[in-house]
Amino acid sequence: MMIRTNLEHIGEAIDFASYKEEVARIDRSIKERTGKGSDFLGWVDQADEYLKSEELPRLIETGKRLRENYEVLVVCGIGGSYLGARAAIEALTGTLPKKGIDVLWLGETFDPTYISRALAYLKDKKFCVNVISKSGTTTETALSFRLLRNLLEERDGKEAARKAIVATTDGKKGALLTLSRQEGYETFVLPGDIGGRYSVQTAVGLLPMAAMGIDVMALLNGSKDAAKEYREPDVTKNEAYKYAVCRHHLYEKGKKVELFCTYLPTLVQLTEWWKQLFGESEGKEGKSLFPASACFSTDLHSLGQFIQEGSQIFFETILHLEKPEEDLPIPGDKDDLDGLNYLAGKPLSFVQERAFRGVLEAHAEGAGIPNIVLEMERMDAYSLGYLFYFFEKACAMSAYLNGVNPFDQPGVEVYKRNMFRLLGKPGF
Ligand code: PA5
Repeated sequence: MMIRTNLEHIGEAIDFASYKEEVARIDRSIKERTGKGSDFLGWVDQADEYLKSEELPRLIETGKRLRENYEVLVVCGIGGSYLGARAAIEALTGTLPKKGIDVLWLGETFDPTYISRALAYLKDKKFCVNVISKSGTTTETALSFRLLRNLLEERDGKEAARKAIVATTDGKKGALLTLSRQEGYETFVLPGDIGGRYSVQTAVGLLPMAAMGIDVMALLNGSKDAAKEYREPDVTKNEAYKYAVCRHHLYEKGKKVELFCTYLPTLVQLTEWWKQLFGESEGKEGKSLFPASACFSTDLHSLGQFIQEGSQIFFETILHLEKPEEDLPIPGDKDDLDGLNYLAGKPLSFVQERAFRGVLEAHAEGAGIPNIVLEMERMDAYSLGYLFYFFEKACAMSAYLNGVNPFDQPGVEVYKRNMFRLLGKPGF
């Protein structure tokens, strides 16, 4: 068992027997593809299928080519077309500037200052672009891509630009596919039956990861093994379903917010990915938990006061990693003016672990906030692949328990229509 849903700190014992039938029924509807939005269940067995696909060796090869030939990879995408890649790259390679190829995120904003500065920075760099858009018409992404393309073509010429651009898009239709065919860009496919927020195990997430040197085979194997484990229909034996039922139960009892907490700054983007997954999948028909996130210790010194003593509209879900990827000892000091010698010789992980225990005690026992603890041994490519799938499966179950379609996002279109009308786009 790679991930354990520890419910010892939620302040009650959930009667899972009363959910058994409902969970088994939903599980069947996922397997038989009969539930709402079932045209978008391609992610369920995607990892296994992709491991056998012809595209994967080409993707790994292209990742290597980009890594060996460029200084900066610009990932141009938004929402499901960038959050998974960013989450994985930061979780597995950190947030500090990289020694080899570095990564820059664009296509998720209209901010002219940010975009101008990014282009000015790229002007003197040997950069490549992975533009990612299923529809090809997402305005944030398309505008940034037009600017990036112009910069490459004007500076290096059309042929060099062609080599530097790789597109990930729908395999059959869309503006980006048409443009890529016309310009001769290498393309990778986001399958039609997988939505953006479930696409991290496709080329959408995997190509930027491969370019940054991440072992994408290990990540896919993690997701594949998770798919096997979470096929279990019995909620008492399925950790992903246990998590889904618990959060649903707390919602039914009146909690409005789920605060997803990590203790690793490198996992902040994973919490962003998680927020999109649950927010876009569940937040409809006036229902569902608002997905929020925090990074401890950082946020203990900002949100900590509210969590401990503010209005209790939320519960916490803590991702607890048992082993850090690296550790270091705390040095002794002969004067001990900072009073830290009582920790000398201990590893930093000892302090992190005690902080985690102290916070859990303060929040769960002290303030009575239900705390779900998701326990995972470590953060490597395999376990991250496992974790992505854990959340995807839990999210599908959770949305279905709420009676909503986990795979559409009708609300996202409202701002777009208004914006297009205000911009004077033809037809709006
Ligand atoms: O999950 C989703 O469907 C969205 O976040 C989309 O991925 C996002 O809006 C980007 O869309 P596209 O890939 O069509 O540019």
